[in-house]
Amino acid sequence: MERPLGTIEQPRSLPIKKIVQENANVRTFYFATEMKAKPGQFVIMWIPRVDEKPFSVSVNEKGTLGLSIADVGRFTHKLFTLKVGDYVGIRGPYGSWFKLEPRAKRILLVGGGYGVAPLAYLAEQAKHAGIAVDFCIGARTKDLLMFEKRLRDLKATLHVATDDGSAGQRGFVTEAANACMEKNTYDSVYVCGPEMMEKKLVELCAGRTIPCQVSIERYMKCGFGICGQCCVDGSGARMCTEGPVVTGEYASKQTEFGSYHRTGSGMKQYYHGH
Ligand SMILES: Cc1cc2nc3c(=O)[nH]c(=O)nc-3n(C[C@H](O)[C@H](O)[C@H](O)COP(=O)(O)OP(=O)(O)OC[C@H]3O[C@@H](n4cnc5c(N)ncnc54)[C@H](O)[C@@H]3O)c2cc1C
Ligand code: FES
Repeated sequence: MERPLGTIEQPRSLPIKKIVQENANVRTFYFATEMKAKPGQFVIMWIPRVDEKPFSVSVNEKGTLGLSIADVGRFTHKLFTLKVGDYVGIRGPYGSWFKLEPRAKRILLVGGGYGVAPLAYLAEQAKHAGIAVDFCIGARTKDLLMFEKRLRDLKATLHVATDDGSAGQRGFVTEAANACMEKNTYDSVYVCGPEMMEKKLVELCAGRTIPCQVSIERYMKCGFGICGQCCVDGSGARMCTEGPVVTGEYASKQTEFGSYHRTGSGMKQYYHGH
């Protein structure tokens, strides 16, 4: 009998069904599988004899799971050598998710880098629920922008910001988001991206008393709450279980949020400026 996805003991071996190059550094890897994953939740991918790593669900529809992955280090370099038909292990989904208020009319989503992936999935669910979506996407340069077409096709109101001004407005995505918040009224703001960007957005939302949800990435090993690797200073909460998605208020009580994170060996790594 086939074991359903969502059990925690073992990864399920799945062939790669399709690979799509999304930008200069990110590819979406598709798998034919049903998964009860909500936006913001993640799976753990295993490449035998290499490692296991967490990735957010980017696409989850009609029996297809998509993970949008940046090529950054040993694991992802190996993944980027795999072809359609090659197998990887997948277990999950795990963690908390972005929650939509049933009475929400208009929401703001702010994504940087591959952080746009889980938010694009959230935007699709919000549109389906009849909620208007404003979406700010940011990247260092035009070549690194993600999902412009996916979001335009969805008819989300898109605001693009690049650090070098090669597409959209020049500057940080936080500035674009701040301008949106000045002009419009939002029921909630959803944020996923580099942690210093997230911290700034959490502060901006607190200043305007707009509810905010943010995804906090921490180094993960088990992914389901038993190893303690992903605990954050401030509360000791496990970001694989109580997180990764938490409220802005909760995030700001974690003393390491926007200050440092820990490596696989537990060493602190401070963010730039700390
Ligand atoms: C909840 C969550 C969701 C994520 N979603 C995505 C996604 O959708 N797309 C994507 O490209 N990346 C995602 N990541 C990050 C991804 O797991 C790492 O970038 C990846 O593991 C890098 O591995 P590497 O060997 O290629 O690079 P490395 O050189 O080993 O690592 C590069 C950086 O990635 C981070 N990292 C490495 N290993 C882990 C780990 N086990 N757990 C968490 N972070 C790690 C560290 O910050 C490290 O400095 C997510 C991480 C978390 C925690
Ligand atoms: S990764 Fe093991 S407790 Fe979170």
